[in-house]
Amino acid sequence: MSESVARQWGEGDVLARILDAAQASGLSPDRLTVESLAPVDHFHARGFAATRDLADVLPIKPGDRLVDIGCGVGGPARYLASRFGCRVDGVDITEPFVQAANRLSELTGLADRVAVRLGDGQSLPWPDATFDGGLSQHVTMNVPDRARFFAEAFRVLRPGAFFALTEHGLGTGEAPHHPVPWSDDGRHEYLMRPEDTVDHLQAAGFRDIDLTETGDTYLQGYRAVMALAEKGELPRLGVHILLGSSAPAKTRNAARNIEEGRTRPIQIVCRKPA
Ligand SMILES: C[S@@+](CC[C@H](N)C(=O)[O-])C[C@H]1O[C@@H](n2cnc3c(N)ncnc32)[C@H](O)[C@@H]1O
Repeated sequence: MSESVARQWGEGDVLARILDAAQASGLSPDRLTVESLAPVDHFHARGFAATRDLADVLPIKPGDRLVDIGCGVGGPARYLASRFGCRVDGVDITEPFVQAANRLSELTGLADRVAVRLGDGQSLPWPDATFDGGLSQHVTMNVPDRARFFAEAFRVLRPGAFFALTEHGLGTGEAPHHPVPWSDDGRHEYLMRPEDTVDHLQAAGFRDIDLTETGDTYLQGYRAVMALAEKGELPRLGVHILLGSSAPAKTRNAARNIEEGRTRPIQIVCRKPA
């Protein structure tokens, strides 16, 4: 299962694709920054803007140790480490992403504060009560065992720590159109109604669960990307280079699914009781 999920997300030399696109857009590989990489390394709906908006509502302090579960190529982890002066450990199931994440952290001078490992969020490689906060952006759409995934997040957090989640939840309409970024044809897709996600978080022990509907803002983001693509004006450096040749169809379907109520995107911030 984990290998097929990894193939869905990143095959081949992901790092080379990012560095080539960075160079083509005029960025020197030895002068990369958290800001200059932001168009490509926040790999979720609305990209960097969504990470920034989420970070604005999280109680992160300098010196905190955070975990990013399903961290991709590490953009959110590097942004949080640099904005808040904290340390971020990441884990991701896709090996080319893990390699790219660690090299990009070296190139941006953040390797001492951001470390990414290969692994599955359903079985985290850290002891109990390690982290002051955790996040998982756009990962759970591929996770078959929600109960285990949330129980693992809960286990590695310290009492009082926050946990933030973003995802495309299941809507009340018909089945989603495919391909979408997380699944070409419905395989390895485990969407859940937001109410059921909240129940699972509660069952894992999380409290103070604050849910925000993000469908409208995601739609604005997808429409802006589609408008640029139609005019042939997509920037060289963007998440489309991670999505591959089916990027236009995946983006269009992600938007249609929201418009037609087939998916219901959400952001959740909750807490492990003190
Ligand atoms: C849309 S990307 C999001 C990456 C990152 N969170 C971000 O926002 O930039 C989804 C990521 O989830 C990872 N993933 C999917 N299932 C996973 C699992 N069970 N454990 C760890 N990572 C997983 C994929 O490899 C991919 O990197």
